[in-house]
Amino acid sequence: MNLRLDSFEAYQEAYQKSANDPSEFWNGIASQFQWMKPHHQTQSGSLEGGDVQWFVGGQVNITENALDRHLAERGNQTAIVWEPNDPDHPIQSISYQTLYERVCEMGAALRASGVQKGDRVILYMPMTPELAISVLACARIGAIHSVIFAGFSAQALADRIQDAGASVVITANEGRRGVKTIPLKSTVDHALASCSTVRLVLVQRVTAADCVMESNRDVWLNEFEQRGKGLPCPPEPMDAEDPLFILYTSGSTGKPKGVVHTHGGYMVYTAYSFANVFQYEPGDVYWCTADIGWITGHSYIVYGPLLNGATTVMFEGIPTHPGPDRFWAICAKHRVNQFYTAPTAIRALMAHGEDPVRAHNLSSLKVLGTVGEPINEEAWHWYRDVVGQQKCPIVDTWWQTETGGIMLSGLGALSPQKPAHAGLPLPGIDPVLLSADGTELTGADQEGLLCIRSPWPSIIRTTYGDHERCLNTYFRPFPGFYFTGDGARRDANGLIRVIGRVDDVINVSGHRFGTAEIESAINQATVALESAVVGYDHPIKGQAIHAFVISDRSLDEVEMEAARKDVLAAVERGIGKIAKPERIQFVPGLPKTRSGKIMRRILRKIASGEFDQFGDTSTLLDPSVVDAIKTQAQSTWFVPS
Ligand code: WT7
Repeated sequence: MNLRLDSFEAYQEAYQKSANDPSEFWNGIASQFQWMKPHHQTQSGSLEGGDVQWFVGGQVNITENALDRHLAERGNQTAIVWEPNDPDHPIQSISYQTLYERVCEMGAALRASGVQKGDRVILYMPMTPELAISVLACARIGAIHSVIFAGFSAQALADRIQDAGASVVITANEGRRGVKTIPLKSTVDHALASCSTVRLVLVQRVTAADCVMESNRDVWLNEFEQRGKGLPCPPEPMDAEDPLFILYTSGSTGKPKGVVHTHGGYMVYTAYSFANVFQYEPGDVYWCTADIGWITGHSYIVYGPLLNGATTVMFEGIPTHPGPDRFWAICAKHRVNQFYTAPTAIRALMAHGEDPVRAHNLSSLKVLGTVGEPINEEAWHWYRDVVGQQKCPIVDTWWQTETGGIMLSGLGALSPQKPAHAGLPLPGIDPVLLSADGTELTGADQEGLLCIRSPWPSIIRTTYGDHERCLNTYFRPFPGFYFTGDGARRDANGLIRVIGRVDDVINVSGHRFGTAEIESAINQATVALESAVVGYDHPIKGQAIHAFVISDRSLDEVEMEAARKDVLAAVERGIGKIAKPERIQFVPGLPKTRSGKIMRRILRKIASGEFDQFGDTSTLLDPSVVDAIKTQAQSTWFVPS
């Protein structure tokens, strides 16, 4: 299989071909994979109908393509290099042959325990090889994996387990992150108190710490894996459109939704985009620093790299442990060729200066990638000049959980580079900018709503258990288009700069949260009667959360400190520490219209320290609250120094 385009002309040609005849184009790529049964229709349905399907009638198993297919040629090549949290602990190099065997063992054990095609399995795990193995084992037997980032709280975990109706949870006694340990198993126990569907819990022993094991439900993962030893584990034949996984992500309203991706289209697109964006060549060592709990880890730690027979690095720890040079030490240690991280991490490491970078030999680096949020120009230049020594192209990859794979990005060094611009679309991707009334904006440097005009193989198929929600969020706002929720601008050369969300989604350190979800967590605090949260620019996190909270009684200074702690604890309980508001402001009221809608626009201005132009406030029920909120905020966070 060779999916890689190797010149800008080849890219342009592929792009033209994909535009002229998308079926022909994707057929050519799909035919390089191993199918159990060929499809009879390349694509059916439409964006208008929100019922897009790919490779209809085809049968495939993504793991046969990610594992079995490589054994003859590169069985002994390293598939996964695992770098532990503690740099003095041994690394693990897992060959394609070993990975295949372990996935088969685990798959066979799951099958033997009664897990069937279509069953949902929750993975709430640290970044260990067992996480990747569990993901692949589920896919192998046709079980639908749903990885929940191990920083989510018991409540958030329970919400997702219930929504998915999962029967199995795979976890660890504890996770390790820097000097901290995370009590994963006890969080699972907590969550399961309200989840009646779960009958089996597998527990990886990561640390020496004890944990409670319920004899009729909990099994140690290593013992469980043994049950599959020597058993055959043929890949389950999956319809191209059968679900591969559910991944929960936040939206403007309500609880997080389960984005569904499939075996066929997702496989084709993640493999194709990986090969091209990172310009991966045989023998290269590729490292994406994301967690498999997010889509980046699914598509570009596990599936994309393994489908290409790549060597992919998995890192258990955090960028600053034991020191702020850890990323660079790992790059040097494993001679990393392609490095992929988030702007937030770049900005945080930038704050430590150049010495930690210069301390390591980074000459192996060829391509540097970023993902998750807009990258500011300063961070872009630092990444290019200091980390890449001006020798590596930056690929600023724009995409979403819902798109399954990278949509806008340079292809290694082939494409034009422009700071803070994701750039051109990948072949097969047709981005457009629309005005609020749906008119297409074609002029240079116009800002509009980023939409996609034609289907691509890894487009979201549904939101689990609620297709209406999927239609309303993505396909109905602009009929005939997929609506991204982002605002963007396109320059005269067609390079796109993604500016950020235009909806009530806040992107903190590249993690996505809905305002409604944070507010409902805050409102669980006894002190909170009502709340509204907005994002504001933050030098490291990209955006941070400012919470405006109406308390149940008036608070003096001392009480306010305690109340803040209550609010933080409520967010930690409802979602997890990752969603904690940076600022909590107790306010006498919220700026509501007569119809009861909160005017977030005003709160966003106040949180950004823009106190003069609030626009039209005549529809507010009580305009005086704006002044009160403004005066408080000014004296707390915007005191001139
Ligand atoms: C949102 C999607 C895609 C994997 C990680 C995030 C923002 C993502 C970029 C980028 C500007 C970006 C968008 C998008 N975003 N990449 N390169 N430049 N913004 O996935 O959690 O589904 O979040 O992240 O706002 O809509 P996600």
